[in-house]
Formats: sequence, C-alpha cells, structure tokens
Amino acid sequence: MNTIKLITQIPGENSFKVLNRRKEALPNGSSLATEIVIKSARGAVVKDVDGNTLLDFAGGIGMLNLGHNRKEVIDAVKKQLDEYVHSCNIVMTIEKYVELAEMLNSVTPGNFKKKTLIANSGTEAVENAVNIAKYFTKRNAVICFEGAYHGRSTLTLSLSSKYSLFKRGFGGFVQDIYRMHAPNIYRKPEQFTNDEYVKYCVDKFEESLISHVDPSAVAAIIIEPILGEGGFIQIPKLFLEKIREVCDKNGIVFIADEIQCGASRTGKFLAIEHTGVVPDIVCMAKSIGAGFPISAVIGKAEIMDAPHLGGIGGTYGGSPISCAAAIEAVKILTSKEFLDRATYVGEIIQKRLNEWKNKFQIIGDVRGVGAMNIVEFVKDRKLKTPDMDIVLKIIKETVSSGVILIRAGLYSNCIRLLPPIVITDEELNEGLNVIENSIKKFSI
Ligand SMILES: Cc1ncc(COP(=O)(O)O)c(C=O)c1O
Repeated sequence: MNTIKLITQIPGENSFKVLNRRKEALPNGSSLATEIVIKSARGAVVKDVDGNTLLDFAGGIGMLNLGHNRKEVIDAVKKQLDEYVHSCNIVMTIEKYVELAEMLNSVTPGNFKKKTLIANSGTEAVENAVNIAKYFTKRNAVICFEGAYHGRSTLTLSLSSKYSLFKRGFGGFVQDIYRMHAPNIYRKPEQFTNDEYVKYCVDKFEESLISHVDPSAVAAIIIEPILGEGGFIQIPKLFLEKIREVCDKNGIVFIADEIQCGASRTGKFLAIEHTGVVPDIVCMAKSIGAGFPISAVIGKAEIMDAPHLGGIGGTYGGSPISCAAAIEAVKILTSKEFLDRATYVGEIIQKRLNEWKNKFQIIGDVRGVGAMNIVEFVKDRKLKTPDMDIVLKIIKETVSSGVILIRAGLYSNCIRLLPPIVITDEELNEGLNVIENSIKKFSI
C-alpha cells in the first residue's frame, strides 16, 4: 500500500496562505527549497497543513538520519523538560553536556585523548574549530577547498565556495584564507585515468603550499571528507592522506567538517572512517541532535585545551534539552544495526541510481557513499554541461507528486537523496519510483 496520499495540489490552500504570510513576515533572502508547509511528521513520513501525506527524501538536509520524532529522543527530551530547561553551562555544570562529551570523545576515531566543545549550529562548530586551531598554533592562515560549504557567518562564508548563492553581497571576507582545488573525479580532464588525476591533484596541492601559502603560516586545513553542498564528492583517500602528512610535518591542525556527511549517513559514524585517515578535530552537527539544535567540536585534548579559561563557550551551547536528545541519538547512530541499515539503504538507492544512469541521457553522473547519494544532470554527457533548469523542473514535479527533494552541487545541477535511514523498504521504493517518473517526464 502506498504511503503518499495527496488530497490537494502542492501547495494546497492552507499551505498557500502560510506561504503568503511567510512572504510578508520573513526576509526575501531566507532560503526556501519547497512549498511544503509541515503539520506533523514521523520517520520519513510528513503530513502538511492541507492533509497531504508525503515522503521526506531531504531529511532536513542531513539532519534527520534518525527520522522525524524518534521515540527514544523525544522521551529523553520530555524527561529533561520536567527536570530543568537550561542553566547555561558557564554558570552551572550540566551533567548531560559532560556525558555527551564523554560519548563523542569515545566514538570519534583517534588513539589519543580527546575533548569536546558543544555549540548550537554547524556554523558555530566550524568557527570554534578554526579559532581553537589558530590559538593552538599561534598562526592565522586557513586552507579550505573548492566546492566547500562551512556555514554562513563571516568566517565560515569566507571558507565556503559557490559565491553566487552563498556569498554574493556579503563581502569583506576574512583574510588569510587559501582555497585549493579539491579532486572531482567526474569532472577530471579526459586525458587522466582516475588514479593519475588524484595523483595530479595531490601534486597540485603540494605545489600550492609554495605558490599560495607557506605551511609555516597555516593554522588549519579544513575539508569535508564528502563535499555536501558541493555535490557529494568523496575526497579520495590518497588526497586525505596527503593532507594528514602535510599537517603532521608542519604542525597544522587537520579539521574534518562532518556536519553533513557524518552521523552514520554513509554506514560509518564519520565519513572519513572509510579512508582510515584520522583528523585532529571533527566538526559535527545536524543528525547528532536528531532535530534538536546542537553541534560539537571534538578534538585532540592538547589542541582543544589551548584557549584560555573563558575563551570559548556561550549561553546556549550544551543546552540539556539538545544534549539529552543527542545522547540518545548518538547511542542509536553508533549501533551496528543502524550503521548496517545505512549501508543497506544506500545499496538500494545506488542500484536504482545506476539503472537511471543507463536509462536517462540527461544524467551525467550518479555517486554516493552509503545512504548519501546524488544524481548530477547535464545538457550533454560528453561536454558535461551542467543543467540546473532541468533539476528545478524535476524537483517541482517530484514534490508535487509527494516526495520532498532538494538540489545540491556547485552548479545546482544535482538532486541529493538524504532520506531518513529509518525509512521502510516500501517507502524508499515508493519514493524512488516517484523520482524516476519525474526524471522520465523531462528526459529526451
Ligand atoms: C558541511 C557543512 N558544514 C557546515 C554547515 C553549517 O551548518 P549549520 O547550517 O548548522 O550552521 C553545513 C550546513 O549545511 C554543512 O553541510
């Protein structure tokens, strides 16, 4: 039996009214990917304010790996609400903050003592990670990569790519930031094999440590092991190993931004675990809170301990409500059952995506790790000309048919699939069928 039940058009009359109010009350620049107005949700199933039932394949941009309203998480939050709401960890110690930090220290790779700072958003985690690295190294420069997205504060925007969508108009960016090329196998020059190309990228990276910045000036190298907004591009093991080597040789802090690709989306708690490379600091957010706002900076104790007393922290960081949620979430996310499920969901999706690539010429590439998958659309397979218009049409059609879907990619020419890992097999296949029909409709 199908889960999707549409009784009005999307958006229906009630949604339309709220969307109009949104337009009046919220600033124009406030991002909006679909016209769905949510009323309630469980797992991968969303009901809108018009009584329509839809399937969620956007998963709050990777924030809902555990699905909507996971029972253990909600129960823990309700219990915490009855005890106290917040005290500010600067004023009084919150035991749940300590417990969560202990958990994250123990599940994050690295055979060294770790410490964890809790904050409220991914942006804040990255800000803190970079500041801590600067303090530790007494240096200012930061290396980041093409296609990166690290947030929307001035520092994290400065570290981010995709100028037109994220950075336009917000200039006066932070200085001493050096952006290097990140390997993108799909868009490699034709003359290279994959291995040759990765080797070339490694050599270019080394060269830029002469041409762009001297390693002795660099505090941190920050990279998403799988680019999120950049289009789910997995950074090859060899390239991450080179970053590790450069950091070790020059006393630079290696920061892995796992905010979108972490939290068991790929079948391992951290995406970088697929490569065996161990970063010095890991930034996490999104799904570790299962919907509650929280982020974490987990790192080598000697680095994390560098700033002076009072140098880091804030009013809401480590809120017991979010920590209660995250403790339950991390327990589930790190269980074998959940990690296996992520791998299994990924296998189903990847099988279908490969079939689509064979069927539809408008698809240039399909790629992903575990349950983090993307379809890249092009006007011409040989030239790989990005097709962002077709993506908008496919998303509109898919959402109108009851599947919530969003785009990604440096050229905004990809659809990303981030359904909750707890989605049932039936729901998953139903959603994939809807997406396939939309692609078929716009295929030549
Ligand atoms: C890789 C990555 N880093 C940082 C961020 C910023 O996180 P937040 O939106 O919670 O500030 C995001 C958000 O999408 C992200 O994907």
